[in-house]
Amino acid sequence: MIKLCCSFEVHPLSPALGAEIRGVDIASGIDDRQFADLRQAYIDHGVIFLRDQDITPEQHIAFARRWGEINVNRFFQAVATHPLIAEVRKEPGQTRNIGADWHTDHSYDQIPAMGSILYAREVPSVGGDTLFASQYAAYDALSDGLKAMLSTMHAEHSSRHVFGVDAFAASEIEDLDGRLGNTAAATQDAVHPVVIRHPLSGRSALYVNGDFTVKFAGWTQAESRPLLDYLYAHACRNEFTCRFQWRRGSMAIWDNRATQHCALNDYPGERRLMHRITLDGVALEAAMA
Ligand code: SIN
Repeated sequence: MIKLCCSFEVHPLSPALGAEIRGVDIASGIDDRQFADLRQAYIDHGVIFLRDQDITPEQHIAFARRWGEINVNRFFQAVATHPLIAEVRKEPGQTRNIGADWHTDHSYDQIPAMGSILYAREVPSVGGDTLFASQYAAYDALSDGLKAMLSTMHAEHSSRHVFGVDAFAASEIEDLDGRLGNTAAATQDAVHPVVIRHPLSGRSALYVNGDFTVKFAGWTQAESRPLLDYLYAHACRNEFTCRFQWRRGSMAIWDNRATQHCALNDYPGERRLMHRITLDGVALEAAMA
């Protein structure tokens, strides 16, 4: 159903999450009222999408600053001229893409990022879509018994096994060279509630992800594995997802506390170049706190 907001149209992509916003042009300027509506759409839908934005890196940065402080990713190659912008890039000859598995950005930080603003500069002729999954929907669909157990639990998250010195197989290092690096900086560990109260919506959301969650606090890795695997599979069930097909000039603004995402790697031989700005968040509280 199309919702007519005061200053633009909101076209939901799926019942669970995601909406395309029509009638916003960042380059022409966004007044405070339109920005407040955009922020509300972001809270309501978890991830919002804009099309046909023709913006410079400076305009991308200025737009990001309307949302909050910029949080520079330690491991992604930055745009040479604009260190606040991370490159998410795959060249025609490269094999691995960045963000291929379901995850939520920066959950290894004690204060995880609020979200990211990803802007498409170059896209493959077909493919390279991004999937998003609502972690409100994932939480809501759990049984009352599992909800009750998870609501008392915390989980440990880390960057070490994903971005650290030992994270990459020898065969991957050349492929990733110039895209991911700074392995010595992969020293972040954090403990977060398994079910968080979303800082903006107040809703309960599941907060574990296959990339960065290591184990439940107070449990061994072996004990944690079966339940974590169950939750990872549950968290991205088809009915909790939406899929975004990029065009050059498309933008996604997602909330890391309400969603997970993964980038499809189905465009061998083609280039995909995205500019990502990540935004500071707040410490996360348990839903039952
Ligand atoms: C990411 O995980 O931030 C990248 C998503 C994408 O490239 O679509």
